[in-house]
Amino acid sequence: MTPWEVEGRVDYDELIRMWGTQRVTDELLDKIEKRTGNLHLLLRRRVFYSHRDLDWILEIYDKEKFILYTGRGPSGPVHIGHLIPWILCKHLQDSFDTKLYFQITDDEKFLLHPEFTAEVAHNWAYHNALDVIAVGFDPEKSFLFSDMDYAKTLYNMAIRIAKHITLSTAKAVFGFKDQTNVGMIFYPAIQIAPCFFPSELEGRKTPVLIPAAIDQDPYWRVTRDIAEKMGYYKPAQIHGIFLPSLLGPSGKMSASESKSAVYTIDTEKDVKTKIMNALTGGQPTVEEQRNFGGDPDICVIYQYMYFLFEEDDKKLLGRRQECRSGDLLCGECKEYLVEKIVQFLKEFQRKREKAKDVLEDFLLKD
Ligand code: TRP
Repeated sequence: MTPWEVEGRVDYDELIRMWGTQRVTDELLDKIEKRTGNLHLLLRRRVFYSHRDLDWILEIYDKEKFILYTGRGPSGPVHIGHLIPWILCKHLQDSFDTKLYFQITDDEKFLLHPEFTAEVAHNWAYHNALDVIAVGFDPEKSFLFSDMDYAKTLYNMAIRIAKHITLSTAKAVFGFKDQTNVGMIFYPAIQIAPCFFPSELEGRKTPVLIPAAIDQDPYWRVTRDIAEKMGYYKPAQIHGIFLPSLLGPSGKMSASESKSAVYTIDTEKDVKTKIMNALTGGQPTVEEQRNFGGDPDICVIYQYMYFLFEEDDKKLLGRRQECRSGDLLCGECKEYLVEKIVQFLKEFQRKREKAKDVLEDFLLKD
């Protein structure tokens, strides 16, 4: 797995071992709960299951407040899977009263996709920014930027970083080949730069916490290797797993396969069609379902509820048991999920429309 290719079934435990991260333990969650008084479902259900230095971030919080950093590669429309780390960020921003830096990497997607013009990538940055704002971040405390627009500050930070990264490190970590364009090879310095923005822009050495999907970890490994040399703290991370594709439980939802995901701009009809066609853990016939029950662990509908759409733990467990016993049929489950998603999107799309008027309040300028 690289930050650009996540395919097949992901072995998340193996990533912890391979990349040397820490598991999110009950003890760590207790510490968070003690501070915030509640535990967000994405934390208590271990959708964010791995971390680096999150314990340290909590320990020093009273003396040195951390700042959040996350981002989005604008390669197309935003789907619900993309929202997962942002929803956690919003929760952390509210609970810990912290600032957020949000990077939109139009440069990365331009460099990565042969068919993209710079204009297309930049245009997606604008449309995706509306989704980011619709999540509900505090405009006073959230700083959003597109790499193409915020190029001056970004570039000046990136060159300082790039000088510490050799080609052989970049090849080993990101799998670059001789055919890779040199823009991509420089790009890691661009994604690392915001890790150090809080320290530079605020004039104090600042702890940073990055909530993101686990495929972004290669960047943070490089960052952590060079941070202290450059006079900064190593950034901490909390790593999420992927919301599976509607067409099967493997890998992250592909932005190019429109039936594999629910997009934030989907209509009620789109949602219905997609959910009704999604892969479940059910039996081929009603009779078999009644006799043998279904398997929620391989069911994408269940995963959607687990990640976001059934907040009540007791109800979720109830659903699980009724599925296994054959009392619940896939059709019923799907209808329930459609209703939940449609409700969610109605509110989200209203906020996304309003975001057009307030975008300026969020933008970081050189
Ligand atoms: N490379 C990420 C992507 O393709 C975008 C990104 C930039 C990002 N900075 C980040 C993601 C920080 C998480 C955290 O989606």
